[in-house]
Amino acid sequence: MKLEGKVALVTGSSQGIGQGIVLRLAEAGADVVINYRSHPEGAEETLAKVQAIGGRCHMAQCPNDQSPIAQGHTIRADLGSVTEVRQLIAESIEHFGKLDILVNNAGIEKHAPFWEVTEADYDAVLNVNLKGVFFATQAFVQHLIGTKRTGKIINISSVHEDLPFPNFAAYCVSKGGMKMLTRNLAIELGSFGITINNVAPGAIETPINTQLLNNPEKLGALLNTIPLGRLGQPQEVASLVVFLASGDADYITGSTFFVDGGLLWNYQEQ
Ligand code: BGC
Repeated sequence: MKLEGKVALVTGSSQGIGQGIVLRLAEAGADVVINYRSHPEGAEETLAKVQAIGGRCHMAQCPNDQSPIAQGHTIRADLGSVTEVRQLIAESIEHFGKLDILVNNAGIEKHAPFWEVTEADYDAVLNVNLKGVFFATQAFVQHLIGTKRTGKIINISSVHEDLPFPNFAAYCVSKGGMKMLTRNLAIELGSFGITINNVAPGAIETPINTQLLNNPEKLGALLNTIPLGRLGQPQEVASLVVFLASGDADYITGSTFFVDGGLLWNYQEQ
């Protein structure tokens, strides 16, 4: 298996794309730390699915008598708090002895016209999507440099690291920042053998899109802009993450890979 002996932390993995990534990493043989903020039941579900695969995970309420190779505890942490982010990395390392792969997946978005965005909403989005990523990555890199090991960082960005998204200005700012963070760190971390890349999904069928999925008019309009004519599935994003986390991707750093059904470059004259 591609990732046997590796330990991965996936932030925001109680649902959606994060959960899909955990499952694919576990299938590839990695030990996985499942992180959640407000959905312990989702983290339990992710864990149960990992156990069904036969991977190993890190979760407090793991029924270890039933499955000796799948035990541990999930870690609750709010990625919007630097203190909690640092604790998350430290606790992951403490439990599994090390970390090899960091997937910065946790992300939020808030819908509002630019002129109505509150400071609280701006802070919420930037703190989770950018500040949390910055300091999780910093703590992970300190661990790798301190233990003289290489590692892989994969950021779950968005087509909106490039593409404007009216009514989501703070979200776009956060993803644009993530794009530059990746390019900058590819250079700073290269000599340590640490790679960093972005996976940029388009419209994926996950809870972040619940409102959209329940609005036939909006959904129809969106589908018209996707050349492949459908939303993506979390596992279609996760497969690329597994590749980027593996030795097959050792020479890839500082890049963004789009998983968007063709959405980003779709322009047509009406
Ligand atoms: C956003 C979704 C949006 C999709 C395509 C994603 O980054 O989270 O809300 O539907 O991009 O625009």
